[in-house]
Amino acid sequence: MSTLIAIRDAALTAGGEYSPAKEKAANRGIYNGRSPLLHRRVKQLLGGLKFKLLFCLSLLCLVVWFSSKIGPFMGWDPDLSSSISVPNRGSYTVLINTWKRNSLLKQSVAHYASCSGTDAIHVIWSESDPPSDQLRAHLKNIVLKKSQTAHKPNFRFDLNEEDNLNNRFKPISDLRTDAIFSVDDDVIVPCRTLDFSFTVWQSAPHTMVGFVPRMHWLDEEKNGMAHYKYGGWWSVWWMGTYSMVLTKAAFFHQKYLDLYTNKMPSSIHDYVMRERNCEDIAMSLLVANATDTPPIWVKGKIYEIGSSGISSLNGHSDKRNKCLNDFVSLYGTMPLVSTNVKAVEARNEWFW
Ligand SMILES: *[C@@H]1O[C@H](CO)[C@@H](O)[C@H](O)[C@H]1NC(C)=O
Repeated sequence: MSTLIAIRDAALTAGGEYSPAKEKAANRGIYNGRSPLLHRRVKQLLGGLKFKLLFCLSLLCLVVWFSSKIGPFMGWDPDLSSSISVPNRGSYTVLINTWKRNSLLKQSVAHYASCSGTDAIHVIWSESDPPSDQLRAHLKNIVLKKSQTAHKPNFRFDLNEEDNLNNRFKPISDLRTDAIFSVDDDVIVPCRTLDFSFTVWQSAPHTMVGFVPRMHWLDEEKNGMAHYKYGGWWSVWWMGTYSMVLTKAAFFHQKYLDLYTNKMPSSIHDYVMRERNCEDIAMSLLVANATDTPPIWVKGKIYEIGSSGISSLNGHSDKRNKCLNDFVSLYGTMPLVSTNVKAVEARNEWFW
């Protein structure tokens, strides 16, 4: 009681006359927005909020990026779904074309033997000397050891004495699958990617399905003769269009082995043998002519384990241009069909 009176007295002496309203107004002053102290605190608070928002946003970006790298997210467990989607409904024959590179051959046979969809592995051998007994035994052993399934893949060499690129598309008499996966001895496609591309092929079994797209375009027309250009990876990347997939890593139906060897004009065989090139362009034209449809490019990382290969040699693109035009003039029309479709694995692409 006495202190209260004392404060009142003090207020009275300081402001002259005491008024409760005046006191209230003075007290409120501390809390009104115009006070510099409060202004600063609100600013600080908002600044912190902005920072937190930014932080959360970058965290989200990181999560999105990371999950796109590792796959499993939101319950899309790749192991679970691949065990469902790799069925006994079908399997494929791996056709490996090799030439004097036994160490690469051992690596790729070991790899493809480990893929659960592999029914058989055929190695196309094109040398005057047959593979040594040691190499045969070694590869047979690798296949048995690496295979993850109860049913062990068949392993066989398909022997040819002459070095002829047409050998890689010779018909195989006792095939157990319609699907052929044609691959170079230095190309590794991870099993999961391979299985996915196999399911793409199953939905379009008359089409070529592969990982290495190439394109063509009309360059010029001289006195009624169209001249085409062959476009490599950078052209495909730039245009987003392609009309071929190369047989260095592609699925196709086994019926095309017979068509290639027995129905394709023999002038194309001669050309491929003479030039030691363009068997893949010939196959692309053959399938396009038979189906009137484009191939399908599948998204997926593939690995080349050997040296850079022939496509890095000088004059390669001239040779490819010439092949394309010579073959097209044999067909009389351009059979290739261009497309922009790319098959991607949806469980890796949930962010759209
Ligand atoms: C292209 O396809 C047509 C129609 O299927 C066929 O008659 C023709 O022989 C094919 N051309 C070549 C060069 O294979």
